[in-house]
Amino acid sequence: MYRTHTCGELRLSDVNKTVTLSGWIQRVRNLGGMTFIDLRDRYGITQLVVNGEEEDELNQQVKALGREYVVQVEGKVAERSSKNNKIPTGDIEILLDSLKVLNSADLPPFTIEDETDGGEELRMKYRYLDLRRNPVRKALELRHRMALEVRKYLNDQHFIEIETPVLMKSTPEGARDFVVPSRMNLGQFYALPQSPQVFKQLLMVGGFDRYFQIVKCFRDEDLRADRQPEFTQIDCEMSFVEQEDVLNTFEGMTKHLFKMIREVEFEGDFPRMPYADAMNYYGTDKPDIRFGMRFVDLTENASNKGFRVFDDAEYVGAICAEGCAGYSRKELDQLTDFVRKPQVGAKGLVYVKYNDDGSFKTSVDKFFSQDDFKAWCDLCGAKPGDLLLILAGARKNTLTALGELRLEMGNRLGLRDKNKFAPLWVVDFPLLEWDEDSKRFYAMHHPFTSPKEEDVELLDSDPGAVRANAYDLVINGVEIGGGSIRIHNDLLQQKMFKVLGFTEEEAEKQFGFLMNAFKYGAPPHGGVAFGFDRWVSLFAGVDSIREVIAFPKNNAGRDIMNDAPSSISKEQLDELGIAIKDHE
Ligand code: AMO
Repeated sequence: MYRTHTCGELRLSDVNKTVTLSGWIQRVRNLGGMTFIDLRDRYGITQLVVNGEEEDELNQQVKALGREYVVQVEGKVAERSSKNNKIPTGDIEILLDSLKVLNSADLPPFTIEDETDGGEELRMKYRYLDLRRNPVRKALELRHRMALEVRKYLNDQHFIEIETPVLMKSTPEGARDFVVPSRMNLGQFYALPQSPQVFKQLLMVGGFDRYFQIVKCFRDEDLRADRQPEFTQIDCEMSFVEQEDVLNTFEGMTKHLFKMIREVEFEGDFPRMPYADAMNYYGTDKPDIRFGMRFVDLTENASNKGFRVFDDAEYVGAICAEGCAGYSRKELDQLTDFVRKPQVGAKGLVYVKYNDDGSFKTSVDKFFSQDDFKAWCDLCGAKPGDLLLILAGARKNTLTALGELRLEMGNRLGLRDKNKFAPLWVVDFPLLEWDEDSKRFYAMHHPFTSPKEEDVELLDSDPGAVRANAYDLVINGVEIGGGSIRIHNDLLQQKMFKVLGFTEEEAEKQFGFLMNAFKYGAPPHGGVAFGFDRWVSLFAGVDSIREVIAFPKNNAGRDIMNDAPSSISKEQLDELGIAIKDHE
């Protein structure tokens, strides 16, 4: 038997017991007459003690120990004279009788401590060592508990978990597919699912009524802190539901997770915000509503006074930063640099300081009167001591830039507390999005999303104005999930494909199986999928989803531990009938 207890288990009540423990050597400290060893496993750390004065076999063994050696020890539990109240086993120690090295270890390339000296690149290369660190282990334990609670909740609501294929036919979710060549069908490819979207709809046609799956999805898109090429969804679908039923069910699941995992209870329903409001007041479809600072449209008030920047602008918008009238030249310059960054994209920043004495100090004094500034401040609800920050330009870009500036100010003012949570549903998304480059409409969510019934007739006359039965769950400015009520009628689905620019043949080739299924009695249905990695990182309070994935890829989509992707042998390529073009 390797152990009688774990390294996190023993307490004062175990004093005098003879125990066997196994684990890794965290640290060895020789303090004159005594040697203290921290022994670690998944459950905690237990202190071992050896009397160091005798040159016996045990002492020789202890001297030879290195960091991360795997050992089995036996000894007696004793009360510590100097207790460590930072760890649960801090009241006791083990007086060592014997020690057996189960495996030696090379010196790890970084320290396996909570605050490690290893940079991300190094930690990812040796991820199996990184996994031994508390913060990483805790994140994965959190992930496990969340998955368990999701399964419990959905099971109670009569959802059943069904696996869907990973080798499948391409379905568009807006990203590029990862493809897999077929040896048995030379020249043909499977696609890895961007999501199980069509399969879950087919499960509804198959009468399953309520499906879910915690499932890997694959998307070949540009990576960011909240995007991985393979990520996990909590994917769900329900039959005989309207939007309201789906929102209620999954608001219930969200509240359940918050309660069980974060001990946070929300009073009342989550706010619902139409997409148009989200864009107009926050400049994004995923507003962080932990704080206010909503945009105020100054376009009418600020133009026609001879200031070209405002006169020529399609949109002039302001945010009010409370208590910031005292910002220095340097701070305002920093903000100007911020909005000019290419990712933000504004040309410049106008400010109005509402001084405590009621006067205004601004960057556009030449063009406007003190009365003008007062009027703007009134519109923005500003009071003496506040600062207005104003951007102007093309409407869409300026709203986006103002949204970034709002988040930056939220950060600077400490308004984005990681332990405060502000969920909301964003609803009434447009069905379609016009793409100027390709001069065609794209589905804003995906091609299976249904238009609002009252807007269906606009599909021919004004497709851009059609609203969808689509919704996103947004928490703290993160898109945690999204879904829609689906089209369940083959004629409407055909029409949708047509609006999206598919010819009848293309639609038939790509989606014939789905439209065919809809001819055999498809129930009305809808669903949603949540980004599980994002949700876990939100609960863990970390900035990147990489922190909550056991073996993540880096920003170039590489697994630097096992060096994937990598080339394959000539034989493998030949078998697949594939030749690699010279890609230099
Ligand atoms: P959608 O494309 O909105 O919807 O995806 C659902 C959620 O998945 C998360 N997500 C990601 N997380 C990490 N890395 C990525 N690359 C990534 N891409 C998306 C987001 C997102 O909200 N089939 C539909 C759902 C439905 O209609 O039911 C779908 O996949 O949190």
